[in-house]
Amino acid sequence: MTERPRLSLHRLKEMHARGEKIAMLTCYDATFATVLDQAGVDVLLVGDSLGMVVQGRPTTLPVCMDAMGYHTECVARGNRGAWVIADMPFGSYQESVAQAVGNATRLMQAGAHMVKIEGGGWTEPLVRALVERGIPVCAHLGFTPQSVFALGGYRVQGREQDGAERIRRDAVGLVAAGASMLILELMPVALATALTASLPIPVIGIGAGAGCSGQVLVLQDMLNLTVGKQPRFVRNFMDGESDIQSAIRRFVADVKDGRFPIDAVHGY
Ligand code: KIV
Repeated sequence: MTERPRLSLHRLKEMHARGEKIAMLTCYDATFATVLDQAGVDVLLVGDSLGMVVQGRPTTLPVCMDAMGYHTECVARGNRGAWVIADMPFGSYQESVAQAVGNATRLMQAGAHMVKIEGGGWTEPLVRALVERGIPVCAHLGFTPQSVFALGGYRVQGREQDGAERIRRDAVGLVAAGASMLILELMPVALATALTASLPIPVIGIGAGAGCSGQVLVLQDMLNLTVGKQPRFVRNFMDGESDIQSAIRRFVADVKDGRFPIDAVHGY
């Protein structure tokens, strides 16, 4: 198989500007990193969702830096061409800029190309400090799983005018602070679509509709391995496929060609 050119931040921004859709999946180990990379997934997210799907915990909150570093190293070893983002886990950036810089440095040394931080407003100084030190940052707004208890459960964010306005303000502030990618989770399609059109950086949606620059799903969810109820925004890509490689290739093709998600089915 011929190797594709390594994805870069420049290329991802170009894809956003040209309206070329970006396919992203979570990934936690070397075997799947190779499978996803060879299937053409643009971005691998070493998500702290590993707390649930790998470690069997009820939320992402107990995930620690050692686990994130370990899984980032595993993914980096199996990957050749995809862009790799590592989640900063709960408690690894809340205390101070120095704490955030130290922990982000560990993830970059483990093989990440970018780190992801949940929340807006108070995170802007952290984003600025990381970017000034050469660490690219992906921000994450809307439903932010590390705040599940503060948000009152898994709920769509930004339905009311003040909530939508806060998300807009946070997104603009994070871009000004230097974030070069944004994930929007669980929010109305119209809000995510308008934000994507107005921002100069790639916006990746999960339960945020087809108007985003790209889509991300938790790997186990799209392979129909979810324990419990599937969220509405997930499609089972194993349906009609005989192997995992074909399901991943179909996810990539359906995101790129605008066949996933379908707002009337998966949107809010
Ligand atoms: O940890 C994760 O898998 C994530 C996605 C839900 C975006 O942050």
